[in-house]
Amino acid sequence: MQENAIILSNIEIAKDIWRMEIKTTFAQKAKPGQFIEISVPGFYLRRPISICEIKEKEDILVIIYKVLGQGTEKMTELSSGDSLDVFGPLGNGFPIEDIDKVLLVGGGVGVPPLYETAKQYRLKGTQVDVVLGFNDKDAIFYKEEFEQLGCNVEIATMDGSFGTKGTVIDAIKANNINTDFISACGPLMMLKALDATYSKGYISLEARMACGLGACMGCVVKDKDGNSLRVCKDGPVFEVGKVAL
Ligand SMILES: Cc1cc2nc3c(=O)[nH]c(=O)nc-3n(C[C@H](O)[C@H](O)[C@H](O)COP(=O)(O)OP(=O)(O)OC[C@H]3O[C@@H](n4cnc5c(N)ncnc54)[C@H](O)[C@@H]3O)c2cc1C
Ligand code: FES
Repeated sequence: MQENAIILSNIEIAKDIWRMEIKTTFAQKAKPGQFIEISVPGFYLRRPISICEIKEKEDILVIIYKVLGQGTEKMTELSSGDSLDVFGPLGNGFPIEDIDKVLLVGGGVGVPPLYETAKQYRLKGTQVDVVLGFNDKDAIFYKEEFEQLGCNVEIATMDGSFGTKGTVIDAIKANNINTDFISACGPLMMLKALDATYSKGYISLEARMACGLGACMGCVVKDKDGNSLRVCKDGPVFEVGKVAL
């Protein structure tokens, strides 16, 4: 669905990390791990951004974006009451399985889609361990929000300024987290390491996208048998062990 959503808020929550709430009629159709494509005024290609939280009763979606280039920089100029041309919800999303406990692993701007995932697992009574990785203390966001859902949250920072020094894998080891079913989103190196370590669960990939609808083949990755998979349509969420990373 494509529509002009209304921006309810757009605020900086950590260094170069912004949280935006939009009012949209397709919030009720959204699932955790799906994404929307945003038309930023003045730019031709839409920007894919994950759905962070679904407030279906209020028709609200929350997104969190990092200022990376000109498009996301422009998004910071938008404010409450402005309209935003959005398209979605797109992709498959994280399945919410019937399991006793799940480990959610996020790195940087891979953290947002895990929030709604955590929320839905907690609603089912699942134990949710969360390990989030950031470059440094100033880049951390949503630690308290995950804790408020009742998740056990551990943080890794590359410079050691907060939590475990190093990667999310270091934090998982340091905190003896032995949950064997994961859902993860973050940088490719992080996903590669998790994919090599775990045999159960899901990872969410990023790719440069054009159509976002499965038509242009601009976002293709290969599975381990050499078959093409479109990140926008067949993903962005794939089973652990499926994609040739
Ligand atoms: C499924 C999916 C979900 C994402 N979710 C989030 C999120 O929740 N929060 C967040 O901050 N970022 C997310 N990203 C990355 C986000 O799309 C890019 O950071 C953003 O498009 C950069 O736009 P820009 O104009 O600032 O950068 P520029 O570099 O100026 O962008 C130039 C072009 O490249 C594309 N592009 C640049 N970097 C990326 C990238 N990493 N992935 C895909 N396209 C890119 C842009 O969309 C644009 O078309 C997601 C990407 C994908 C594929
Ligand atoms: S972006 Fe066109 S097929 Fe995925």
